[in-house]
Amino acid sequence: MFEEVSQMISEEDLQARIAELGKQITRDYADKDLVLIGVLKGCFLFMADLCRHIELPLSCDFLGVSSYGDRTSTSGVIRITSDLTRPIEGCDVLVVEDIVDTGLTMKYLIQNFKTRRPSSIKVCSLLHKPARELVPIEIDYLGFTIDDVFVVGYGLDYRGRYRNLRYIGVLESVE
Ligand code: IMP
Ligand code: MG
Repeated sequence: MFEEVSQMISEEDLQARIAELGKQITRDYADKDLVLIGVLKGCFLFMADLCRHIELPLSCDFLGVSSYGDRTSTSGVIRITSDLTRPIEGCDVLVVEDIVDTGLTMKYLIQNFKTRRPSSIKVCSLLHKPARELVPIEIDYLGFTIDDVFVVGYGLDYRGRYRNLRYIGVLESVE
């Protein structure tokens, strides 16, 4: 469908890893009050697949952030464009992200959520690009570590496009 994208992580590999993460989360959160908080828009496919591999009662909420505008490197300024719909006080929060790149978004979110007094807060990210880390983030559940390349697909976009790819791919020739 998109000839300018070369596949990096296949649909099969994504689904197998997500099933494993779901099993691990199911074990770790038995008897907890689990709330998955998805960071829009990039999380939407990952969160949909992950939550169906978690065999526990849980709730889902979402929040929208914007840090990039249309470029491929972070501005460092994070803005909440739409907030959670419910309080998370006393809940066991698991933040679900598509990718941790510089870590600035996740650092901001964790600080912000902590002020709302959840019982616990952990991070689940499908991808991590450690080469670009500016602030260290402890990722409790990680799908894949990747090299310093700009990736698209399976929720991740470039200028709003490519989110509907079933795999993760590398976009050739982005500035
Ligand atoms: P961070 O604040 O630099 O960690 O950036 C996190 C956000 O940047 C992610 O949630 C993505 O929306 C976006 N992002 C970072 N790297 C990529 C990439 O390779 N492809 C698409 N989006 C990316
Ligand atoms: Mg994102």
